[in-house]
Amino acid sequence: MSWSRSLAIVCICFFLFSTHTFAFYLPGVAPHDYSDGEDVKVYVNSLTPLMGSQQLKSLIPYDYYYKPFHFCAPDNPQSQSESLGSILFGDRIFDSLYKLKMLKQNGTCQYLCSATVPGEDAAFINARIRENYAINWLIDGLPAASKKLDVKAKTIFNSIGFELGDSTASFNNPPLHNHYDIEIQYHKQESQLKHRVVGVIVTPTSNKYDSEDTAKTCTTTSERLILDEKKENTVHYTYRVVWTPSKIAWATRWDNYLHTFDPRIHWFSLVNSIVIVLFLTGMVAMILLRALHKDISRYNQLEAQEDVQEDFGWKLVHGDVFRTPANVMLLSVLLGNGSQLFCMTTVTLSGYVSARIYKMFGGDAWKKNVFLTAFLFPS
Ligand SMILES: *[C@@H]1O[C@H](CO)[C@@H](O)[C@H](O)[C@H]1NC(C)=O
Repeated sequence: MSWSRSLAIVCICFFLFSTHTFAFYLPGVAPHDYSDGEDVKVYVNSLTPLMGSQQLKSLIPYDYYYKPFHFCAPDNPQSQSESLGSILFGDRIFDSLYKLKMLKQNGTCQYLCSATVPGEDAAFINARIRENYAINWLIDGLPAASKKLDVKAKTIFNSIGFELGDSTASFNNPPLHNHYDIEIQYHKQESQLKHRVVGVIVTPTSNKYDSEDTAKTCTTTSERLILDEKKENTVHYTYRVVWTPSKIAWATRWDNYLHTFDPRIHWFSLVNSIVIVLFLTGMVAMILLRALHKDISRYNQLEAQEDVQEDFGWKLVHGDVFRTPANVMLLSVLLGNGSQLFCMTTVTLSGYVSARIYKMFGGDAWKKNVFLTAFLFPS
């Protein structure tokens, strides 16, 4: 391939792909600025067992709109496009009926819908509550969290998801959470009228409403909502949103989610792995040494006899090592880029190594080598 032809190909590639580069949107990378009263969308994700200090009792995720849960659903729930990360995590994200408007309806009761749960589905829901299932919402790309206390470290942290029901209550059947207090922390940027969502905390509670009217005002009773597995149940879902100003900047809003349950260093397993690595290295070195030793003593014997014989054993490698490889150009370019990656933190080396290797094998198209080293991998 001539010099000008390779240049032309690189140029064509550049123009072909450059139009696509700007079409990518990485979710969660660009902040969304909300103006007063703008819709803040609530997306629902699949229900997963709550991770925490307790033992996991189940591993299966359930779709939020899986029929037996009888959650309030839009007529036609729309599946949301997902990032690669959430596809790998097995997320199933849909839209929801929750209507949040930036800084509006502060602390007022909102009625969502009522659901009729037959006996067998009540048994299903109760079993999931006992298994510690948690509801996962996404608001402005941020998972709704619940405030949890780490007993060991005595710190409060945000735990992703909030409980479907109260599995710790001492009733025959566990209470179902049907009221959600949503606290959205917003950050107001100086000299701007826009707001950014920097935290979402949901505190779920269980409330047995006597009628739809009391539910519409979120009138709490002392009774908790427990689903009867033998008859039909009516569940009224309500929520309340509180907007609280926060000093947390958008860029650091994920910090609250980082939490290690056991911050001690695991010395034992560290030492264990180091010992195993050393032991294995020693084994391999011993085997190699023994094999080489045998070969070398045989060579020495042959030399003493001054016998002309064909190479054998480790000496066979000799022929391959000192031969010019079939594709010098590719080897030197690959090697150059490899050492570039390796040494990038300290010095710029790839051109040097590439040219050095290419010259060593007696190549003379040095301009092409320089060009390919710089452009083959990046393009
Ligand atoms: C909403 O109400 C809470 C207290 O109930 C208050 O701290 C907060 O500032 C209010 N937010 C707005 C935007 O008025």
